[in-house]
Amino acid sequence: MAEFDVYVTRRIPEAGLEVLRRELGGFSINSLDRALSRAELIENCRGRDGVLCLLTDRFDREVLTAMASRCRVISNCAAGTDNIAVDDAAAMGIAVTNTPGVLTETTADLAWALLLAAARRIGEAERFVRAGRFVGWDPMLMLGTDVHSKTLGIVGAGRIGAAVGRRASGFSMRILYCDERPSAELDAMGAERCGLDDLLARADFVSLHVPLTGKTRRMINRDRIARMKSGAVLVNTSRGQVVDEAALADALRGGHLAAAGLDVYEEEPKIHPALLPLENVVLAPHIGSASRETRERMAVMAADNLAAVLKGRHTLNLVRPAAGAPGAL
Ligand code: DGY
Repeated sequence: MAEFDVYVTRRIPEAGLEVLRRELGGFSINSLDRALSRAELIENCRGRDGVLCLLTDRFDREVLTAMASRCRVISNCAAGTDNIAVDDAAAMGIAVTNTPGVLTETTADLAWALLLAAARRIGEAERFVRAGRFVGWDPMLMLGTDVHSKTLGIVGAGRIGAAVGRRASGFSMRILYCDERPSAELDAMGAERCGLDDLLARADFVSLHVPLTGKTRRMINRDRIARMKSGAVLVNTSRGQVVDEAALADALRGGHLAAAGLDVYEEEPKIHPALLPLENVVLAPHIGSASRETRERMAVMAADNLAAVLKGRHTLNLVRPAAGAPGAL
């Protein structure tokens, strides 16, 4: 008989489930190959001691209230926790944990994949070849923009932003970054810290790495897009709601921006209809952390976090302790 009643909202890599078996003696899991509806989430999470969830599960005040009488921890298998009303959870006695660090390099790789693909028109070129339209080398075919020796603007200088900056040295790029706090790692690379508007006006490539908060929602709005350097490329692997997609589509269609590479969307999984017909935007299905190794590490970390809170052990990945718990405000 399992000591704790734990629910996993969707299949995760086996290594994570193994931790739950070993640490907690078992768990219940959503056996459907899809995210749960809101009603299903409430029904399945009610009466549990802990829940291991994904960024597609939205825990707002109403969902949390339904779980609060028993639940002690929600372990998000993601670094971002904008899908959880973290303050409400803490006030209801539910700790929230996440999986930072383990996905840093993999997400930075994807940001670079999008940056290069957008600059060198890889998506468009691939569609062209598959459509049988490649009839021979052409001096004017698919001319993109150089990446090397250009200026990279990093918005949000946390772990992933710094990892994106590290990769830029191989491309001899100048780095600008903007963040409320200086980044020792980026500073050591010779990067220049500046304000957002300054960065947007000077960077050839802008890569977004901010968490979604009240401050960053629609941070890249129509006005800010207009301030971006003409011919610049925008890359977003953070959260879709940081960018005004309609304004971005207008800037891409009108030619103010050369291209964009997007992994995340305002109303995921919906893609703004104005983006879909555009050749100069590379669209990925939120796969920033999607390597086998990283998803396994995230699953193990999420399971470890869940077990640690339930067993009263220390975890470094507490986004917000439950009110009244050690470390709570
Ligand atoms: C996260 O962890 O926040 C990522 O978006 C998942 O890929």
